[in-house]
Amino acid sequence: MNLDSQDLLKNLKLPEFDDVRHYMHNLPVNTLMGIGAVAAFAFWYATRPQALKSAFDVTMQSVEIEGGQRARRSALLANDEPLVYYYDDVRTVYEGFQRGLNLSKNAPCLGSRKKNKSYEWITYQQVADRAQCIGSALIQQGFKPSPNQLIGIFAQNRPEWIIAELGCYTYSMVTVPLYDTLGSDAIDYVINKVELQLIFCDALEKVKILLTSVEKGNIKSLNTIVIMDPFDPDLVEQAKNCGVKLFSLKEFEVLGKDNLQNPKPPRTEDLSVICFTSGTTGDPKGAMMTHKNVISDCSAFLKVTEKVVKMTKDDVLISFLPLAHMFERVVECSILTHGARIGFFQGDIKTLPDDIKTLKPTIMPVVPRLLNRMYDKIFAQASSPFKRWILNLAYRKKEAELKNGIVRRNSLWDRLVFRKVQGNLGGKLKLMITGAAPVSANVLTFLRAALGCQFYEGYGQTESSAGSTISVPGDWTAGHVGAPLPCNIIKLVDVEDMNYFAAEGEGEVCIKGPNVFLGYWKDPEKTAEALDKDGWLHTGDIGKWLPNGSLKIIDRKKHIFKLAQGEYIAPEKIENVYLRSEPVAQIFVHGDSLQAFLVGIVIPDPEVLPSWAKKRKFNGTFEGLCKNKELKNAILEDLLRLGKESGLKTFEQIKDIALHPEMFSVQNGLLTPTMKAKRPELRKFFQSEIEELYANNSNT
Ligand SMILES: *[C@@H]1O[C@H](CO)[C@@H](O)[C@H](O)[C@H]1NC(C)=O
Ligand SMILES: *[C@@H]1O[C@H](CO)[C@@H](O)[C@H](O)[C@H]1NC(C)=O
Ligand SMILES: *[C@@H]1O[C@H](CO)[C@@H](O)[C@H](O)[C@H]1NC(C)=O
Ligand SMILES: *[C@@H]1O[C@H](CO)[C@@H](O)[C@H](O)[C@H]1NC(C)=O
Ligand SMILES: *[C@@H]1O[C@H](CO)[C@@H](O)[C@H](O)[C@H]1NC(C)=O
Repeated sequence: MNLDSQDLLKNLKLPEFDDVRHYMHNLPVNTLMGIGAVAAFAFWYATRPQALKSAFDVTMQSVEIEGGQRARRSALLANDEPLVYYYDDVRTVYEGFQRGLNLSKNAPCLGSRKKNKSYEWITYQQVADRAQCIGSALIQQGFKPSPNQLIGIFAQNRPEWIIAELGCYTYSMVTVPLYDTLGSDAIDYVINKVELQLIFCDALEKVKILLTSVEKGNIKSLNTIVIMDPFDPDLVEQAKNCGVKLFSLKEFEVLGKDNLQNPKPPRTEDLSVICFTSGTTGDPKGAMMTHKNVISDCSAFLKVTEKVVKMTKDDVLISFLPLAHMFERVVECSILTHGARIGFFQGDIKTLPDDIKTLKPTIMPVVPRLLNRMYDKIFAQASSPFKRWILNLAYRKKEAELKNGIVRRNSLWDRLVFRKVQGNLGGKLKLMITGAAPVSANVLTFLRAALGCQFYEGYGQTESSAGSTISVPGDWTAGHVGAPLPCNIIKLVDVEDMNYFAAEGEGEVCIKGPNVFLGYWKDPEKTAEALDKDGWLHTGDIGKWLPNGSLKIIDRKKHIFKLAQGEYIAPEKIENVYLRSEPVAQIFVHGDSLQAFLVGIVIPDPEVLPSWAKKRKFNGTFEGLCKNKELKNAILEDLLRLGKESGLKTFEQIKDIALHPEMFSVQNGLLTPTMKAKRPELRKFFQSEIEELYANNSNT
């Protein structure tokens, strides 16, 4: 934040008003503050903002299709046919890269950096050549150029990930990404399920995990590992002893070069990737995604934004969200299709800010967790009442512009207040997309105002190739997930026992279109749960149509239970209400049909709790505060107040809570890799607290 008067002066660089600036430089700060209003007006007059020309009438973002169960489609489509592709010559991910290769005139494609160094790039042609070598080596090793051939990739985001993937696609093979947060048992499960024989691995630790599983006999099919990082010859010996061949990626490329094969590109209906997602319970499920799935989802985004964001070969993406997930894959596919470049982070979230500053990306996909952190940091830095006042004022002014469809970062407020925040992200961002989990309306609106770039919120799931709705350009209001993407139609289906009815514009969100997956790999039962016989994907989310045709997600279908007296409880809905309490970072609401009331586990926000507690005359360390009974009661009181305000029924309010200092996380096994609560695990983990809470409150 540049909020002191000194900074105010320093940052008052108004190129349109050079003479004014010159004059102002010679004035004392107080006078300057006094004439601020005049300067602001003059500045505004010269830089009057223009609203983006949107392709949409934002008051009618989706329309009902003919004769179809109240299903709605994007208002952008001319008829009820969903969009399958945007560029005539791009129907597969392979063709997308070919288009970029041609467009880019061999410009930089993939970049990475070493600590404190600048980015180093390899070109489109180099990527294409190396991919062809890798694919050829696969064939030399006996793998088939066919969409029945599955190849594993177990690596963090890095250039070799994309090169290995393209190597597979060049010969119609299918990738199966693996990732750490699956956990080693689930990794073994996946390898066995798809009978992987070859895996591209980035680092030695991963190779060792795999070899250990082979040695123990936990995985049977694996016989080759190709390693991206340098490694010790000893490892080759160890691998050989358990029947696994090791190659360095370099060796593998040389092997391919000496045995070069002509490409055998995939067809649009062919599988491209099997994307394993770990649900909240049970084994991971392998969503089978075709090239058409990926391309139609990319294409729909291009269609929605065609009038307002032109992607070009000058665009730069920062790649840090896991490539093993569909969200990042769809984004990177659209980057490569335009001959733009992808810069990878160093692999450590701690150095991500430095990577971003160095790379100066124009496009950045994000997740709510990151946005929350940015938001908190900005407010934490506005420490004095004066700074806070300016920050709020600037926010209100820019929020008002957003409401009129105006997105920019050249206003007075940007120059005075938001310049530093924008600079921390490199200062070049033109497009951000958030997805994967709900983001709070406050946070999204604030960051839209502060960052001044087009900032979309999407909603969907792996099974719909990540995206199925997105905010439409021009509607920068938050609190909904936008309109159906042009590649799919969406209908809401009655959920009677939760009182949601399609006729009233509420129900379970169901999706149909070319972006919807084929089913789960060798799992007809789970497939039938997700996909009905008419091809509708049932998401388990409860949605509601807003009057202007955008969709709002209001609830989850699963995780409902009855309390002892028979009332239905949807704990996630209750949690979402309580999460608005200032000192609360995470909450788990528990109940079951043997109990007459609900209890909760609250993780206080370590950034907020100390000051919140201090205002109420509590002191001590964070750990100590979490043990403080009075403070616990104060938080409970705040939750009950919020519950009442939001219209929770009496039986939906929790009776008591326990405070716990450690966040639920993927690492401690309480969240899924997509940051959803693992409810059965949470119940187990907090079993003793829950029992105590019931015991302590059973007589009241
Ligand atoms: C490459 O781009 C040029 C235009 O720049 C176009 O005429 C040509 O058809 C493209 N070639 C391929 C293989 O797409
Ligand atoms: C990299 O830069 C950071 C700060 O910019 C510094 O703390 C660190 O020591 C540097 N590391 C190396 C290897 O130069
Ligand atoms: C769309 O409708 C919602 C709910 O009525 C409202 O909050 C939002 O501002 C509307 N958007 C526009 C652009 O009018
Ligand atoms: C907290 O406040 C009490 C008095 O209310 C005082 O005795 C104690 O030393 C304080 N503890 C800390 C850690 O400041
Ligand atoms: C239950 O009550 C006892 C006695 O008041 C208290 O020490 C304990 O912390 C309570 N347990 C929970 C989980 O609140």
